[in-house]
Amino acid sequence: MTQLEQFQRDGFLILEGFNSDSECDALMTRAAELSTGFDYTGHPSVFQTSEQTRTSDDYFLDSGGRISFFFEKDAFTTDGKLKNTIELSLNKIGHALHDLDPVYNNFSRSPQMKRLAAELGIADSLLIQSMHIFKHAAIGGVVDVHQDSTFLYTEPLSCVGFWFALEDATVDNGCMWAKPGGHQTALRSWFHRSDASGTEFKIFDPSPIDMTDMIPLEVKKGACIVLDGLLPHYSLPNTSDRSRQAYAIHTISPNAHYPVQNWLRRNLSELSPI
Ligand code: FE2
Repeated sequence: MTQLEQFQRDGFLILEGFNSDSECDALMTRAAELSTGFDYTGHPSVFQTSEQTRTSDDYFLDSGGRISFFFEKDAFTTDGKLKNTIELSLNKIGHALHDLDPVYNNFSRSPQMKRLAAELGIADSLLIQSMHIFKHAAIGGVVDVHQDSTFLYTEPLSCVGFWFALEDATVDNGCMWAKPGGHQTALRSWFHRSDASGTEFKIFDPSPIDMTDMIPLEVKKGACIVLDGLLPHYSLPNTSDRSRQAYAIHTISPNAHYPVQNWLRRNLSELSPI
């Protein structure tokens, strides 16, 4: 069975040893540099006012073409101070690392990524989003079950995700969970900008995602997991004493319609493939 057939059957594909340890280390080093260089004075999350939701929304909605920093829930004290060092307070960095930072660009468009995209028949798909996810020891939080096409919605659906383990991912440090074949289901919702301000979910199918037979996708540092945009997946909190850093990128078809209401705004003519 080819990798493409396996991906089409299961909705995901696990490729162990996809990246070398040094390639993974380069990304974690770069994330630490970016984090320590980030001046969070005046960051929306620092403010504990009624304006916080709106300014946080604006920061998030403007992050599509930037390198933006997102904190763990409860990272700040009520008087706006970090409870921990900044490196241990961030949830993730996103969402245009692949276009704005040379280290992330090299990782995202490596020779092995170009080969993989060709094998999957998406060599011309556009790389639209990237995230460095920290999942720190003890404080790395849950990611609720979702389908990536909810957040990168196109007509027809075309989102494909690539999730890279920068460290070993196990049940106790919050690895990803999914069900083989789980992508053979409907898209439940579309997360989009509201007419007024902020965001909302448009519900296509209110039936809950079937959580039976979900399995932990435990992988070693260096693994790549390819994810169909319809595959429901989630991760549990990190209850261990070690982090579970990961990097994720998403592609969409250049031939699909990308609605202007999508939360992530990029000039599609400026995007390039893997
Ligand atoms: Fe996801």
